[in-house]
Amino acid sequence: MGKIMAGKISDITPGKMIKVHVDGRDILLANIGGEFYATDDTCTHSGASLSEGKLDGNIVTCGWHEAKFDCKTGKLEKFPAKIRDLTPYKVNTESDNVFIEV
Ligand code: FES
Repeated sequence: MGKIMAGKISDITPGKMIKVHVDGRDILLANIGGEFYATDDTCTHSGASLSEGKLDGNIVTCGWHEAKFDCKTGKLEKFPAKIRDLTPYKVNTESDNVFIEV
């Protein structure tokens, strides 16, 4: 448990998301309007990598079956079946570094 460096601010421009491996977990790190947010990267439907989907504002759409999650909260926004929300993680920035708390 702790604060782990996940990337450089300058590498993750607004509107971009990446997958990072932190503490044995795959985590989606997104820059939404200059603020950074992190959730699980693995879709709770069938396990797709959400960072390979599409980011529109704060909503990530899974590339496999189009489940939509809010990157700011991890909450499921739209899907025909009931599936779990994503776990959100706290993000901090210091100088050019982005840290995720796990
Ligand atoms: S794996 Fe993401 S919606 Fe099916």
